Amino acid sequence: MAVEALSEESVAAAVADAQAAFAAAQDLAQLKNARIAHTGDRSPLALANREIGALPPAAKAEAGKRVGQARQAVNQALARRQEVLEAEREERVLAEEAVDVTKDYDRDPVGARHPLTTIQERMADIFVAMGYDVVDGPEVETEWHNFDALNIGPDHPARSMQDTFFVESPDSGVVLRTHTSPVQIRTMLTQEPPIYMVAPGRVFRTDELDATHTPVFSQIEALAIDKGITMAHLKGTLDHFASALFGAGIVTRLRPSYFPFTEPSAELDLQCFVCRGASVGDPDNPCRTCSSEGWIEWGGCGMVNPRVLAACGIDPDVYRGFAFGMGLERTLMFRHGITDMRDMVEGDVRFTRPFGLEV
Ligand code: PHE
Repeated sequence: MAVEALSEESVAAAVADAQAAFAAAQDLAQLKNARIAHTGDRSPLALANREIGALPPAAKAEAGKRVGQARQAVNQALARRQEVLEAEREERVLAEEAVDVTKDYDRDPVGARHPLTTIQERMADIFVAMGYDVVDGPEVETEWHNFDALNIGPDHPARSMQDTFFVESPDSGVVLRTHTSPVQIRTMLTQEPPIYMVAPGRVFRTDELDATHTPVFSQIEALAIDKGITMAHLKGTLDHFASALFGAGIVTRLRPSYFPFTEPSAELDLQCFVCRGASVGDPDNPCRTCSSEGWIEWGGCGMVNPRVLAACGIDPDVYRGFAFGMGLERTLMFRHGITDMRDMVEGDVRFTRPFGLEV
């Protein structure tokens, strides 16, 4: 019995087809398809091989030899083409991915904004989300805005030449603002309540530059003026601010204090965001961030003094307000474990780089 698939012609044709298909493959993916078609389970030679079993014993040997040689020839053709296409691919990859290591490159690292700028914006964003306006004020300020309108009388020690930079002579009436609170005054003078504002900015005091002082530093001021504002609103706002900046659940604490422009006034402490108070009274687990106090001094706050409202033309019988302010350098110091304030003003990029390329 003769099986057509096993005839010399058929087997030779299958080999020729396979060789032609391999030669025509232009890349390894095409070669893979040709390989499956011509050496796979359903290829003509594989099907022919299966027919051998049906042959009479005498014919089996010859047919087996023919198909075996044919498959060997096909496999050799495949291997040769594979080698050629792999070499081609390698050459192409080398050419396409070549790196010229002798070329000049840009050694200037990408710049980043100063961490003081980014923390300031992050703080302001928290208030923008609560509907506050971000406002700006002049750094060169009148004594009236910086002191008088804020109920800081002519004899107040902060006005003395030791603390305040006067522009020109001390009786010029023009100073470098010693805090951001004059921005409250400017806002109240120009806007009708309700007022919800924050003012981040640079302030100036006649301190020597050392590890914990700098004559130029930054504060952020917040002011809310509306009907029925109470200290509970102040406390809730501060707690939200603390959580948003330092982590969920971090709260603030108020301690009675005195500022001429608020009544009552309070020192504002931040719950330690590292130990959350756990280090207090536990000498085995000291906390470097809060010196195991559980609280960190953060700023000042209070209910806007009715005299300040009156000075700005706002009726204290109708409106009340709260205000607070804190230093940005100090905040950055305890937030990031910075021990020397000078690092923040000297402009060495080795200081700013670890803060990343936050823009
Ligand atoms: N202006 C105060 C300071 O510089 C801080 C402060 C702001 C206190 C607003 C109370 C209310 O110390």
